[in-house]
Amino acid sequence: MGDKKVEETTEAQIAVHWQEEGYYYPSTKFIGQANLTDPAVYDRFSLDNFPDCFTEYAKMLDWYKPWNTVLDTSDAPCWKWFKGGLINASYNCIDRHLEKNKNKTAIHFVPEPESERVDHITYQELYVRVNEFAALLRDFAGLKRGDRVTVHMPMTAELAITMLACARLGVIHSVVFGGFSPNACADRIVDSQSRVLISMDAYYRSGTLLNHKINADDAVKIAKNGGQVVDKVLVWQRYPGKSSTETPMVAGRDFFVNEELKNYYGKRIEPEKMLAEDPLFLMYTSGTTGKPKGCQHSTGGYLAYVAGTSKYIQDIHPEDVYWCMADIGWITGHSYIVYGPLALCASSVIYEGVPTYPDAGRSWRIAQELDVNIFHTAPTAIRALRKIGPDEPAKYNYHFKHMTTVGEPIEPEVWKWYQREVGKGEAAIVDTWWQTENGGFLCSTVPGIKPMKPGSAGPGVPGIHPIIYDENGHEVTKAGIAGNICIQNPWPGQFQTIWGDRDRFVETYFARYCKDPKSKDWRDWPYLAGDAATKSDDGYYRILGRIDDVINVSGHRLGTKEIESAALVVNEVAEAAVVPVAHDIKGKVPDLYIALKPGYEATEALAQKISDAICEQIGKIAKPRKVWLVPDMPKTRSGKIMRRVLGAISNNKDVGDVMTLANPEVVVIIKEMVTGK
Ligand code: WTA
Repeated sequence: MGDKKVEETTEAQIAVHWQEEGYYYPSTKFIGQANLTDPAVYDRFSLDNFPDCFTEYAKMLDWYKPWNTVLDTSDAPCWKWFKGGLINASYNCIDRHLEKNKNKTAIHFVPEPESERVDHITYQELYVRVNEFAALLRDFAGLKRGDRVTVHMPMTAELAITMLACARLGVIHSVVFGGFSPNACADRIVDSQSRVLISMDAYYRSGTLLNHKINADDAVKIAKNGGQVVDKVLVWQRYPGKSSTETPMVAGRDFFVNEELKNYYGKRIEPEKMLAEDPLFLMYTSGTTGKPKGCQHSTGGYLAYVAGTSKYIQDIHPEDVYWCMADIGWITGHSYIVYGPLALCASSVIYEGVPTYPDAGRSWRIAQELDVNIFHTAPTAIRALRKIGPDEPAKYNYHFKHMTTVGEPIEPEVWKWYQREVGKGEAAIVDTWWQTENGGFLCSTVPGIKPMKPGSAGPGVPGIHPIIYDENGHEVTKAGIAGNICIQNPWPGQFQTIWGDRDRFVETYFARYCKDPKSKDWRDWPYLAGDAATKSDDGYYRILGRIDDVINVSGHRLGTKEIESAALVVNEVAEAAVVPVAHDIKGKVPDLYIALKPGYEATEALAQKISDAICEQIGKIAKPRKVWLVPDMPKTRSGKIMRRVLGAISNNKDVGDVMTLANPEVVVIIKEMVTGK
């Protein structure tokens, strides 16, 4: 333990450096139309009313059969919500809206090239396309309830259609972020045992049409070496018939969806009646060890939670045009582009490209053209938009009533620009703190009830009861003192387990503060989020950063061990250590320290090779800011790498006392190399 403690360099140790500020209040116009304005809601969702309070969310959905137990704790801590209930997510996001709203737009798909038309897909059209693709998945790909399928696709309407078609059949989708490498995709294929991979030919990114199908070929090859055979690759075509990228197809394995679909035109598929606790999807996320964790989300509980929070926290009404800029390949996109907004019959925007391409006005032109009135993005995008086009929003005629930020702490300065320029001083803002594991928001203000406070995520949302514990399991009650934020109670959006690894699930999230491992009482199982936080006297939480070996780059989680393992694949590398560095746009970026095997020379070319190896194995988002080829790693006498010291050097902070190290002289050399001092 002693060694582990000195060794750690976590995000929380280079925590946010600002203070939270005063309150901001939404306009009376906003409050006049808000879904939730009654302060009594917090009492309704108090622990005294737990777990029944969450039936308010479940009742927003249509069930084939109602549940008989709200929360079943018999397999603690794998909670089962709305047990006995039967439901289908695809039905709830599409079919039930047809009677009154079939001609309403469900999805506005905005291609990156501005010369291309926006595709406005009505609920009826979505129904037709989801049914036809579900028929193809069932009858051509042979997929059935409970099977897993890996989906590696860019931001297109077809990605949402794919997910909803899987949900219709009860097939568990595992969507891999389109920017991830074939290696990362293959890991997820193997772990989820998918025998079908769904891909796309190509997509636009910053003006270039990228060949994407090529990634599927490599992923299938790598997965096979890992023991999982993919026998079908289904390839959607971005440009059927005129694809300008090479898409070589393997006979008998690869099929163009657009061609095969012709056999299923007009087909309708009865939605599968799923148990509430049947898994809807897997979403992999980084953890402290090299292997990503497959977070398994339920059907009934998850859908209820994302519908409820979309309605109350994001204030989505059916008549709203809602644009969340996240990628559907992350949890935010699953919950708050696809399932939440569509369950509420809103119109959801899917934008293919980069928010700042071809210029800083692009996002605001989209907002103007589609008359978007709810906007959702991450601090990293806000910082980038502010940097290159601080005055751009004012040039466009759009009006947001509500804006969300998610993924990392937002600096008060950036928050204020978002409020003043992007929101034109009219929009309510919610800073939402949550995680892949959680399904939906955990902390945020509820704009119709609780004022906003820049620099602070806010209190637990209705039904979420956070608590801060110190290292010894005592509650931190004093305002402003940091500790580990936990949630005292289960909630319906919470993941059910790590796919195929219940022990890791219990160990990672519950073991630390569990009061009694044999207990079947939820009160004994606080959920450890893995973030450091402080609480203010008003009950608002500030999130400081990760307490584990995870770095949050542009709001995306990367395991330091994942990056280190990728570096170690390069033959010349003896040791690798990754530390987070503060970055003005991305929040944090990884710095990579490398000690070479004896006999190899430190050259620029070798540093580049190591950097390339990481992009190849994980994806470009993991690219180190800098690869430092150092003569040796600073180590404790027991031989552990002192990441804390490297972290301090990278962030230009005091390295503290290093005299107890085995090799303090190397610290001086590294410091000079990195800081020039
Ligand atoms: C961080 C994204 C501060 C946090 C939905 C968390 C935040 C991790 C915020 C989860 C926020 C997310 N303020 N930090 N509003 N939102 N985080 O799984 O460290 O990709 O643990 O889920 O992002 O990232 P994930």
